[in-house]
Amino acid sequence: MQAANTGKRTVISIRPVFDSDRPKVYLETYGCQMNVNDSEVVVAIMQKAGYSVTKNIGDANLILINTCSVRDNAEQRVWGRLEYFRQEKKKRPNVSIGLIGCMAERLKESLLENNIVDVVVGPDAYRELPKLVEKTESGQKGINVLLSRDETYSDISPVRLDKTGVTAFISIMRGCNNVCAFCVVPYTRGGERSRNPETVLRELKELSDNGYREVTLLGQNVDSYSWKDVTFAGLLAMVAESAPEMRVRFSTSHPRDMTDDVLKTMAKYGNICNYIHLPVQSGSSAILQSMNRKYTREEYLQRIKTIREIMPDCAVSTDIIAGFCGETQKDHEDTLSLMREVGYDFAYMFKYSERPNTKAARHFKDDVPEDVKIRRLTEIIELQSELSLTSHKKDVGSIVEVLVEDTSKRSENDLCGRTPQNKTVVFPKGNNKIGDLVKIKITDCSQATLKGFAISGLLT
Ligand code: 5AD
Ligand code: SF4
Repeated sequence: MQAANTGKRTVISIRPVFDSDRPKVYLETYGCQMNVNDSEVVVAIMQKAGYSVTKNIGDANLILINTCSVRDNAEQRVWGRLEYFRQEKKKRPNVSIGLIGCMAERLKESLLENNIVDVVVGPDAYRELPKLVEKTESGQKGINVLLSRDETYSDISPVRLDKTGVTAFISIMRGCNNVCAFCVVPYTRGGERSRNPETVLRELKELSDNGYREVTLLGQNVDSYSWKDVTFAGLLAMVAESAPEMRVRFSTSHPRDMTDDVLKTMAKYGNICNYIHLPVQSGSSAILQSMNRKYTREEYLQRIKTIREIMPDCAVSTDIIAGFCGETQKDHEDTLSLMREVGYDFAYMFKYSERPNTKAARHFKDDVPEDVKIRRLTEIIELQSELSLTSHKKDVGSIVEVLVEDTSKRSENDLCGRTPQNKTVVFPKGNNKIGDLVKIKITDCSQATLKGFAISGLLT
């Protein structure tokens, strides 16, 4: 970690070091936001051990791949990449390859059998990475897949790998105690543990000092955050108060655990974005029960009602799984009707993918035929397209506040950013720049984006 003297105060640099004299690590990340943030912790650990970062695989002394196991296709993608790395290793036999994250935890030693991978490290053992990589220099393999009850990496300042320096993640907890029947996460990431709020606030200050404008607090189940007498609602309030110039988001909430206190805290602080990702998984109470989600359709809908009572303008998104074990056509129709009833602004939608050793794999048959799963998923996606368009159409004519995050992918002359409700907005650049908070009049929309023009300069 290096400190730059900027006159009055010392600011910790949280950006990557690119230095030609040091050994270089190239890192690829698959999967969720938590993995993205874990990669930032891994880079901090490797930089401290003397490495610099490279974006060019051909320059790397060490290639790391941070992996996801949540669905089979996520793992297949990693296997494909490993074949590519095998070619790289043929060209440069001295390059070391490390497979880290959820797949490392799930598949352990077996990953070392293919003569591609040299180092295997699970999500709780990243501090050991430099030592294990060192072993490979003498031709040995390195592995550590121990899960921990208390590792939160809370003393490590993640090295921010995002391009623009506007939005960042802070992990507030790790692991999950819920054991949803379909989910491999409790096995790959271990039990739940929360992080000391002081260390969360320290990291928040680093972000604020480095000009970041938005933070997303991350956890597999943020609502079960608990540190002494600090609840998630309490932490959220502390974060919102400590960085009033920053936008605050969080993910992921669990419908059973989300409290009214969290909703009231969101309503109280203007800088907490009115957006909740509340995975439902299925609209059928019978399927929810076999998924071990611990809420019914009715209870979920009641949560949505309370959200809307407390924050009428709050956007809600969800995760849905099509074709879970035993799902009937009626169960599927219940999912479609729940989607309509809630009117989701956005959704992540998946086909059920059996994961070895989960409750579902041990106790149920993966009995919905593949063609039926595909048809149901298609219907879910088509319905969500309609719902997303309806949600966007409601915004046409209104004025929204957009935090500018990047130049538009389609045109150099346009900027893009998000509203507090997490809707993407594209607009002509004018005098605005990345990191600005801009008022935009919405004039048009598609299912994926809102379009408009800036009606003011900066709001702050
Ligand atoms: N099959 C399909 N989707 C899954 N998810 C988790 N496990 C599985 C699985 N085995 C989805 C859930 C979860 C999201 C992160 O991934 O919807 O909320
Ligand atoms: Fe998996 Fe359920 Fe935990 Fe989410 S809450 S990580 S779906 S076990």
